[in-house]
Amino acid sequence: MIKTRLLNNRIEIPSPGLGTYRLGRNDEEVSRAVRHALDAGYRHIDTASFYDNEMPVGKAIRESGIPREDLFVTTKLWGSDILEGRIERAFDESMRRLDVGYIDLYLVHWPVKGRIADTWREMERIYQSGRVKAIGVSNHLIHHLELLLKEAGIMPAVNQVELHPYLVMQELQDYCQGKGIVIESWSPLGSSKIPLLADPMLQEIANRKGKSTAQVILRWNLQKQLIPLPKSSDRQRQRENLSLSDFNLTADEMTDIDRLDRNLRTGIHPDAITF
Ligand SMILES: NC(=O)c1ccc[n+]([C@@H]2O[C@H](COP(=O)([O-])OP(=O)(O)OC[C@H]3O[C@@H](n4cnc5c(N)ncnc54)[C@H](OP(=O)(O)O)[C@@H]3O)[C@@H](O)[C@H]2O)c1
Repeated sequence: MIKTRLLNNRIEIPSPGLGTYRLGRNDEEVSRAVRHALDAGYRHIDTASFYDNEMPVGKAIRESGIPREDLFVTTKLWGSDILEGRIERAFDESMRRLDVGYIDLYLVHWPVKGRIADTWREMERIYQSGRVKAIGVSNHLIHHLELLLKEAGIMPAVNQVELHPYLVMQELQDYCQGKGIVIESWSPLGSSKIPLLADPMLQEIANRKGKSTAQVILRWNLQKQLIPLPKSSDRQRQRENLSLSDFNLTADEMTDIDRLDRNLRTGIHPDAITF
C-alpha cells in the first residue's frame, strides 16, 4: 500500500516510488511496465533525462487516466547540462518529453565539482517559476550539502542516494534528517550487481515474517523514514514491493539490519563521477 510523507515545503510524496532505470529494452516495454506499476498502485515514478525514457514514462502516465494531482513524478538534471550552461533548457526539454503538465520533484542528479552552489541557484529560479513542486539533489554527501547550503535560499526537499543494508550511511541520514531533507534510497535492493537479496540474515528475518527479502529491506527503509525506489519490470515483483504494511520489524531486527553495513557501493562514488 502507498503511504505519503510530507516534504519540507508541505508537498506530499508517495512512498515507495517506482525506479525506472533500465525498466525496459524499448519505449513500449517501459510504458507497459509503468502502466502495470500504476495499476498495482504506485503513485510515484522516478525517472531522469539520463535514463532516456522520459517520453514512454510520460505516455504511460497520460494514458493511465489517473488524475495528475494523484501522481508524483521526479526527473533529474544531468551533469553535462550543468557544465554546458543549459540548466533551464534541460529542464524545459524534460518537461516537453514527459508532457505531464508539471514536474513534482526536480533533482540535481550528481554534484558537479565547483558548480554545486551556482547550480542550486538556478534550481531555485526554476522552483520560483512554479513549474515544479519541489527541488532537491541526488548523490550529495555531507561535504556537498555544506557547500550548497552556504549560499542556498531554499533547503533541498530531497537527497536521493544509493542506500541499502550494505551501504547505510547513517551519518548522512542523521545530517539530512536534522535539516528536514528527506532521503530517497536508490538501488534499495542492491540492484542486480551485489547479492544483497541472498544475505543469510535478511533471509532469516524474511522467513520468520513470511515475507520476501526484498520486502524486509523495503520495510526497513520505511521504518527509517527513507523513501525507497525499487525498480521492477515484473508485474508480480512490482506488487510484492508495495505489500509492506502487514508486518513490522522489531527494534532488534532494525539494529541487526543496520549492522550489515559494509560501506559497499554498487554505483560510482559521488566524488568520482565525470560527465
Ligand atoms: N540518482 C541516481 O544516481 C540513481 C542511480 C541508480 C538508480 N537510481 C534510481 O533508483 C532505482 C532503483 O535502483 P536500481 O534499479 O539500480 O536497483 P534496485 O531497485 O535495487 O534493484 C533492481 C533489481 O532487483 C530486481 N528486483 C526488483 N524487485 C525484486 C524482488 N521483489 N525480488 C527479487 N528481485 C527484485 C529487479 O529485477 P526485475 O526488474 O526483473 O524485477 C532488478 O534486477 C532506479 O531504477 C532509478 O530510478 C537513481
